[in-house]
Amino acid sequence: MSELEGKRVFVTGSGAGIGKAIAKLFIERGARVVVSDIDADAAKRAADEIGAAGVAN
Ligand SMILES: NC(=O)c1ccc[n+]([C@@H]2O[C@H](COP(=O)([O-])OP(=O)(O)OC[C@H]3O[C@@H](n4cnc5c(N)ncnc54)[C@H](O)[C@@H]3O)[C@@H](O)[C@H]2O)c1
Repeated sequence: MSELEGKRVFVTGSGAGIGKAIAKLFIERGARVVVSDIDADAAKRAADEIGAAGVAN
C-alpha cells in the first residue's frame, strides 16, 4: 500500500506546468487530489486529464 493511500491533497496552481505535474504524481502514488487554479478552464482540463478527485477555483 502506498504511503499516500487515504491522504487528501490540495494543489494550488495545478492547472498547468509544475503544479499539474505535482498533482499527477500525488495521484499516481495513491492520494486523492483537488486541482486548484486561478484559470478555471485549465483546472477542469487538468483534473480530467490526470484523474483528480475534484476541482476548486
Ligand atoms: N517551469 C520552470 O522550469 C520553472 C523553473 C523555475 C521556477 N519556475 C517558477 O515556478 C512557478 C510555476 O512554474 P510553471 O512553469 O508551472 O508555470 P505555469 O505558468 O505553467 O503554471 C502556473 C499555473 O498556476 C496558475 N496560477 C497563476 N497564478 C495563480 C494564483 N494566484 N492562484 C492559483 N493559480 C495560479 C496559472 O493559471 C497556471 O495554470 C512560476 O513562478 C515559475 O516562474 C518555473
